[in-house]
Amino acid sequence: MPSYRVLLSVFLTSSCATVNAALPALPDDYDVLQYIDPLIGTANGGNVFPGATLPYGMAKAVADTNSESNQGGFAYDGSNVTGFSSMHDSGTGGSPSLGNFPLFAYAECANDEVDGCVFPKKSRATPYKNGTVESHPGYFAISLASGLHADMTAAHHTTLFRFNFTNAKSPLVLLDLSDLSDSRQDNASISVDKSTGRMTGSAKFLPSFGSGDYTLHFCADFKSSAELRDSGVFVDARASTDVHDLKISRSINGYPLPGGGFVRFKSPSDGVVQARVGVSFINPDQACSHAESEISDFDFDSTRKAAVEQWTEKLSPIRVSRTGVKSSVLTNFYSGIYRTMVNPQNYTGENPLWTSSEPYFDSFYCLWDSFRSQIPFLTILDPASVAQMVRSLIDTQRHLGWLPDCRMSLCKGYTQGGSNADNILVDAYVKGLTDGINWEHGYAAVQKDAEEEPYDWSNEGRGGLDSWKKLNYIPVEDFDHVGFGTLTRSISRTLEYAYNDFAIAQMAHAMNKTADAEKYEKSSGAWKNLFKKDQTSFHNKTNTGFVGFFQPRYLNETWGYQDPLKCSNIDTSGAICSLQNTGPETFESSIWEYQFFVPHDMAALITLLGGPSGFIKRLDYLHEQNITYIGNEPAFLTVYQYHYAGRPAKSTARVRTYIPDYFSPTPAGLPGNDDSGAMGSFVAMSMMGLFPNPGQSVYLITVPFFESVSITSPLTGKTATLRVVNWAQYNSLNNTGGSGFIQSATLNGKPYTKNWINHDFFTEGQDLVIVLGGNETTWGTKPEDLPPSLSSSSSDLNSRGFGSYEDFESKGIYVEGGPQIARQFRPYDATHFGH
Ligand SMILES: *[C@@H]1O[C@H](CO)[C@@H](O)[C@H](O)[C@H]1NC(C)=O
Ligand SMILES: *[C@@H]1O[C@H](CO)[C@@H](O)[C@H](O)[C@H]1NC(C)=O
Ligand SMILES: *[C@@H]1O[C@H](CO)[C@@H](O)[C@H](O)[C@H]1NC(C)=O
Ligand SMILES: *[C@@H]1O[C@H](CO)[C@@H](O)[C@H](O)[C@H]1NC(C)=O
Ligand SMILES: *[C@@H]1O[C@H](CO)[C@@H](O)[C@H](O)[C@H]1NC(C)=O
Ligand SMILES: *[C@@H]1O[C@H](CO)[C@@H](O)[C@H](O)[C@H]1NC(C)=O
Ligand SMILES: *[C@@H]1O[C@H](CO)[C@@H](O)[C@H](O)[C@H]1NC(C)=O
Ligand SMILES: *[C@@H]1O[C@H](CO)[C@@H](O)[C@H](O)[C@H]1NC(C)=O
Ligand SMILES: *[C@@H]1O[C@H](CO)[C@@H](O)[C@H](O)[C@H]1NC(C)=O
Ligand SMILES: *[C@@H]1O[C@H](CO)[C@@H](O)[C@H](O)[C@H]1NC(C)=O
Ligand SMILES: *[C@@H]1O[C@H](CO)[C@@H](O)[C@H](O)[C@H]1NC(C)=O
Repeated sequence: MPSYRVLLSVFLTSSCATVNAALPALPDDYDVLQYIDPLIGTANGGNVFPGATLPYGMAKAVADTNSESNQGGFAYDGSNVTGFSSMHDSGTGGSPSLGNFPLFAYAECANDEVDGCVFPKKSRATPYKNGTVESHPGYFAISLASGLHADMTAAHHTTLFRFNFTNAKSPLVLLDLSDLSDSRQDNASISVDKSTGRMTGSAKFLPSFGSGDYTLHFCADFKSSAELRDSGVFVDARASTDVHDLKISRSINGYPLPGGGFVRFKSPSDGVVQARVGVSFINPDQACSHAESEISDFDFDSTRKAAVEQWTEKLSPIRVSRTGVKSSVLTNFYSGIYRTMVNPQNYTGENPLWTSSEPYFDSFYCLWDSFRSQIPFLTILDPASVAQMVRSLIDTQRHLGWLPDCRMSLCKGYTQGGSNADNILVDAYVKGLTDGINWEHGYAAVQKDAEEEPYDWSNEGRGGLDSWKKLNYIPVEDFDHVGFGTLTRSISRTLEYAYNDFAIAQMAHAMNKTADAEKYEKSSGAWKNLFKKDQTSFHNKTNTGFVGFFQPRYLNETWGYQDPLKCSNIDTSGAICSLQNTGPETFESSIWEYQFFVPHDMAALITLLGGPSGFIKRLDYLHEQNITYIGNEPAFLTVYQYHYAGRPAKSTARVRTYIPDYFSPTPAGLPGNDDSGAMGSFVAMSMMGLFPNPGQSVYLITVPFFESVSITSPLTGKTATLRVVNWAQYNSLNNTGGSGFIQSATLNGKPYTKNWINHDFFTEGQDLVIVLGGNETTWGTKPEDLPPSLSSSSSDLNSRGFGSYEDFESKGIYVEGGPQIARQFRPYDATHFGH
């Protein structure tokens, strides 16, 4: 490769002598909050929470609707508003999450009697005025058809609502002992203080995608220019100003009996009643003390300003050049980043389940989604918070016995496949996070996932470990008497357990646990045992011509069968591919898509799938026949896996087919559930041109959507920069990723031909410059340019002749291949980050 200097002179003497070959300017600083639109993903099943919150905040204020798709509270789909509540998750599937203790407000009650106000949630639902919804970081506003204008902001455990009525004769604000999914259990309670109107209480609810229950406490205070007129409690549709304490049962028919408290004011001169709601998982007193300390004087503007300052600070490390891009492109990008920090939620000091000085994070919803790019992205942008999340995961294991795979509302969430916390811990480990993390405990936690089967592996850990250890795959129709879980997904679980073991092996290796490293490197090859080399795939009753697919395998080692297109995006059979007991052998995805999930050994996979050209044909077919669905996380890495077959330009071209077409900055702009910011991170990392292979210190380089990107590492203070020469020339499309491909690159001024970089790029503040041209070139295509793979140094990608797992074994690659090859794999040596 010619050096960058040489290239410059080529450009200067070519016919495009007018091209300014000087390096593009680095991004200037600017207010990024103007480019954050929290309403992206609030329609069309994105389920995004668009309300007011701090980064990782526990209190989250928004107007809740009765939409079928109200998982995040508000849905921008013309559904009706049922309340204003203070706890939410964002972008989740499953049942609607949280939405506890909604408030509702009236300018007056009919006939001036409290019974003249409508209390039950079902009957009080009110349309909102379209066009009045406004959302910014730390702020949400909406007007209802009733004439109520509500706006809201939040501190960490406290929300603040401003109810502004036209014609407020005697406004009433009620608080309902319910949640979004009406999951309240028996004996919820509320007390209303007659003299101040303060409401305190508690109720028990169910988590939205998990086991157990949780109890949440609240403390609501009200402020108005008018005097408090009266107060009381309501049950069903009737209220009384004489009763101020209520303990209410769940009621019959599984639907919680409506019940709660209310306050009523005389007529406020400014039409406004404010409500401040503190929440706590500990007790009502703690909810009150949060409220009093976080929003002491009901000052809306200063609370909002503090939220804006926190968001500004969180987004300060990253800037992209605004040259030649529409503001909608910037909005797409920065809003994606914003969504990565809405969940998980920081419940430190709010965990009643065990006593610990470690941080406690919740709403990991779910790690199967967030390990792929969200947490890796935060490791770049906000490593101090990721370190706390990792400490929390480890502390959870220490106290509950297992790392979670999903966790919400202090409860265990359901496992979807592998033990994905392993990937997250190891991603943080190989990227050098230390910051108070006890990595010996971390290692013990991930190793336990690999070694010990929990009694109930629907909620944690892995199932089928006896079979796994004996057969080196998860059999279909397994016999498992050790632990219990949904005995399905044998293919996706095998692939995911294999990757989890690779992750553990990396950590073992860096910790000098050599025997463990060898053991887990070996078992990380177990994916090969489900590869049926003569399996075909039919599409529209026509043979696709591709031979060799993963297939289910029985305990007796004979093959079962699952159509490789089953559960794909084009499967019209109506198959449900989730956690049901009779489910298929792949989770939320097809064999066609899962065939690419060998993130640690792409070289071996490529060989099995027919070498680079056969592999690329398959990957093209996956995308072009609409088999994959970019709205679900397993699709993410498939966009970029061309890199491993020496065709990085095809990854760049592929990204452009998905962004902005499937990810646009509109309420309906997301292709599926945002999954707590997982989709947001996909947009952000794709647009910045560096996508992670999670669990490894590997970022795949594609052409960014911006002329320059700079990211300052909060750990080292050094600034990594990515600059694109000739960007304008190939950005004529202007709102997409442009049309150029990488011709050459330099890293810190030296020619760079690898199509990937490692995490040093960010922590060392390296300088990557890529030069664009109109056509794909040989840049990044040679074996030595490819990202690392476990069983290969990548130098003989085409020459390996093995075609099945038996061949792997007979050639000793699977059985003995690991350690020394693997050592080359690691871009870091252990001393690098001080273990
Ligand atoms: C919303 O409320 C209006 C007026 O009460 C009613 O006509 C409409 O059916 C409701 N829509 C939903 C989705 O509840
Ligand atoms: C509400 O407004 C949005 C944008 O302002 C528009 O896209 C949508 O169609 C409107 N919905 C209704 C029900 O009028
Ligand atoms: C309440 O609404 C009135 C009328 O729209 C407006 O003048 C006033 O500023 C609002 N007050 C607050 C606190 O938003
Ligand atoms: C609810 O309270 C009643 C009355 O105090 C008590 O009998 C019952 O056991 C309680 N139920 C639960 C589930 O705590
Ligand atoms: C691209 O969009 C920017 C911002 O809207 C505009 O200033 C510029 O002229 C556009 N460039 C082209 C080539 O259309
Ligand atoms: C989480 O909350 C605790 C307690 O409020 C605080 O000390 C810590 O800094 C927070 N962590 C993050 C990442 O914001
Ligand atoms: C692993 O061994 C190497 C070589 O002996 C040593 O330099 C390194 O500090 C060890 N690492 C750990 C985590 O013990
Ligand atoms: C399969 O049928 C669908 C719908 O008719 C069509 O869009 C698609 O191109 C066909 N694919 C193949 C490989 O025949
Ligand atoms: C292997 O097990 C499967 C499933 O139980 C059964 O259908 C098949 O007949 C068995 N094959 C042999 C050779 O035992
Ligand atoms: C791909 O599948 C989606 C459904 O997930 C469908 O809406 C879309 O039209 C399909 N695209 C093509 C090109 O067939
Ligand atoms: C790409 O290469 C082809 C064949 O060499 C050439 O005709 C074409 O002009 C090139 N395109 C661009 C945009 O440079």
